[in-house]
Amino acid sequence: MIKLALFPGDGIGPEVSNEAVRILKFVFDVNRVSYEFEEELVGGASYDSYKKPITEKALKIAKESDAVLFGAVGGYKWESLPIELRPEKALLTLRYDLGLYANLRPAKVYDDLIDASPLKKDIVSGTDIMIVRELTGGIYFGQPRGIFDTGNGQKKGINTLAYTTEEIKRIAIVAFEIAKKRRKKVLSVDKANVLESTELWRETVAEVSKCYPGIELSNMYVDNCSMQLIRQPRSFDVIVTTNMFGDILSDEASMVAGSIGMLPSASLNGKKGMYEPIHGSAPDIVGQNKANPLATILSAAMMLRYSLDLDSLADKIEKAVENVIKKGFRTLDIYSSAPGTKASGTKEMGDAVITELKSIFK
Ligand code: IPM
Ligand code: MG
Repeated sequence: MIKLALFPGDGIGPEVSNEAVRILKFVFDVNRVSYEFEEELVGGASYDSYKKPITEKALKIAKESDAVLFGAVGGYKWESLPIELRPEKALLTLRYDLGLYANLRPAKVYDDLIDASPLKKDIVSGTDIMIVRELTGGIYFGQPRGIFDTGNGQKKGINTLAYTTEEIKRIAIVAFEIAKKRRKKVLSVDKANVLESTELWRETVAEVSKCYPGIELSNMYVDNCSMQLIRQPRSFDVIVTTNMFGDILSDEASMVAGSIGMLPSASLNGKKGMYEPIHGSAPDIVGQNKANPLATILSAAMMLRYSLDLDSLADKIEKAVENVIKKGFRTLDIYSSAPGTKASGTKEMGDAVITELKSIFK
C-alpha cells in the first residue's frame, strides 16, 4: 500500500493538486496499485484553522508517508504575519524536518511551446536543464539570523551563509549521479570570488568529481550563470548550486522554458520526497479555473519515478503531457493565437491528460 500525504495549501494549490491527484488515481487504478492519500491543511489555510502554518499532525503525516504532494502556499492575506507564522514557513519546515536536501528542478523546453518563451526560438530550442538546488542549508537556515537592535537606535538584519563539507558533498553526489543518466556535464555555480562558503563549495565539488571520471565538471560564478542562461541555455546540462542561488536561477530558467506553470520539482532525501510545482499560489487567479496544472502533474510523475519506483508510469504521464501540448491545449500562461490552439482551463487540461493516458494505456 502506497501512502501519500496531500498538502494542497493555498491559492491555486488546491486546484492544481486536485488535477494531479486525479491523474495519480487514474494510473494507480489502471495498474491495480493500492494507495491512500492523507490530506491536511498547510500554509495560510493551516494558519486560519490552527493558528500555525504547519501542525505537528501534518508533519507526522508527512513523515509516515512514502511521499508528499504539495500544492502551493502563501497569499496577500498572510503577508504581514511575523516570519515564523507565514505560510512559507510550512514549506521550509517540511524541507528541513524531512531532511529534503536535494531539490531537482528540471527546465525543459517543449518544441511545441517554444512560442511561450519570451526569448528567441533559435536560442531556447532544445534546452534541457536539470537544476540541483541544495535545499536544507545555506542562507535559508544559517545561524545567527534575525533582526537585532544595535543599541544606537539602529537595527541590524542578519542572515548567515554557511556550508559544511558534508552538506556540499552529498548534494554534489546527487548532481553527478543525475548527470550520469544525462549528457554527463555538471556545472557548479557559486560566488567563490567573494564568498568563502562558496569557495569551500567549489573545492568540495571538485573533490567529489574525482569519483566521477566520466562526468565533465565546470564552474561558473552565479552572476555570469544568470547571463549565460539567457544567452545560451542549450549549453547547460546539470547545474548544482546553493539554496538561494538555486531559488533564483530556477525562476530564471522557467522563463527559458516558457512558463513557470510548466515546471515541476522534487525535493529528496534518498527515496523520501516532496513534490511540488515551482510556481507559487498565484492569488490573482485563484478559483477561476485558469491555473496551469501541468507543473503539478509533472511533479506527480517525478514522485512515481523518484519515490515509488514506478518509472514506466512516470514516463507515460510525461508522454501524455507532451501529447496534450502537441495537440494545442493551452492554459492562459502558455496561450498563443497560433492555429490549432485550444484555450483550456485547469480542469480541461486535467481531462486532456487523462484522455491521452487512456489511449496510451489501451
Ligand atoms: C521556491 C519558493 C520558496 C523558496 C519560498 C516560497 C519559501 O520560492 O520553492 O522556490 O524560496 O524556496
Ligand atoms: Mg523560488
